[in-house]
Amino acid sequence: MLIGVPLETAAGETRVAVTPETAKKYVAQGHTVQVQSGAGVAASITDAAFEAVGATIVDRNAALGAELVLKVQRPSADELALMKPGAVLVGMLNPFDKDGLSQMANAGLTSFALEAAPRTTRAQSMDVLSSQANIAGYKAVIMAADRYQKFFPMLMTAAGTVKAARVVILGVGVAGLQAIATAKRLGAVIEASDVRPSVKEQVESLGAKFIDVPYETAEEKEAAEGVGGYARPMPQSWLDRQKVEVAKRVAAADVVISTALIPGRAAPVLVTEDMVKAMKPGSVIIDIAAGKGPNGHDGNCPLTEAGKTVTKHGVHIVGETNLPALVAADASALYARNVLDFLKLVLTKDARFEMPTDDDIVTACLMTQAGQVKRT
Ligand code: NAI
Repeated sequence: MLIGVPLETAAGETRVAVTPETAKKYVAQGHTVQVQSGAGVAASITDAAFEAVGATIVDRNAALGAELVLKVQRPSADELALMKPGAVLVGMLNPFDKDGLSQMANAGLTSFALEAAPRTTRAQSMDVLSSQANIAGYKAVIMAADRYQKFFPMLMTAAGTVKAARVVILGVGVAGLQAIATAKRLGAVIEASDVRPSVKEQVESLGAKFIDVPYETAEEKEAAEGVGGYARPMPQSWLDRQKVEVAKRVAAADVVISTALIPGRAAPVLVTEDMVKAMKPGSVIIDIAAGKGPNGHDGNCPLTEAGKTVTKHGVHIVGETNLPALVAADASALYARNVLDFLKLVLTKDARFEMPTDDDIVTACLMTQAGQVKRT
């Protein structure tokens, strides 16, 4: 197949969907790989590195006009106009964006959104949410350490003792777990909260303390079990008790990293303005849920402004919305491997596209086909 890899054009997007490592494999499988000139530059991959493994460097029209287009983000209207009806598109296409899906259907694309893959063992190697959230969790801690005006580790020096930073992690999915692990390596004291009880053991095994909010009713317990590994909205009674416990920890914290999300819904508000007011001046909040909160611009904190770093009540609130793009080389390397593994399910040994109808991963990722939105 003719595989096209365009330069990503969304603001701040530095990642690329194919690396020399994966391009080499596509070429070995009998595909032709056409990479737009400069597509890898922001991820430290030169055109020459792609050429060295047998890819061809082309212009934007040729990359987007391929039979199979590999992208990081959903194509813009301009990009869709350059794509051929009947082409196959693979990327992080945002399965919850109805308008975006309609546009891809209208463009006649067979499109697969990798975020929609089920959280099963077989799908792990193509799980883009995990590969990218892992990076977001790491980078959030590094950014917090950079902005915070004190050390993370406890230090005993000739000039006196420095206390370890107190870090609170809200939401312990993939990003939260990596944030705990990274903050721990830097020597911080960490506490973490999540709605799902299964998380407690993972938090403790990483050397952090779980903020326990016991379930008092069958309804609370059932909601906390979530669905498909994901959280569900919790009853207000539990959220109120969680708020009391979280508020105490946040007031004492030097750094808060919030990652709490519920798929297809607004991110829950976990750090209220009153909590921010109670924090020490110079403290840092990294809101990984920025841009997904109830008002769109916010996140787990209502004071967050997506895409900006603001200082409110003396607290620095970082609303970076694409943390993986700040670790472009490794984020691309992992994402490109996710794409390669997914394509094994839909490309035949003789390098053709063939869609199995009985594969749960392929069916879950299929967003549009033959002019129709397929997602239910
Ligand atoms: P996510 O990004 O959807 O959400 C982040 C975290 O926020 C979750 O842990 C969620 O429980 C938590 N959260 C939601 N509402 C909250 C609230 N009000 N207060 C505190 N925390 C709240 O989650 P992510 O990282 O995508 O992980 C979801 C699940 O999928 C996890 O259980 C993870 O272990 C599992 N998983 C399974 C895989 C597999 O089996 N192949 C691969 C990757 C993840």
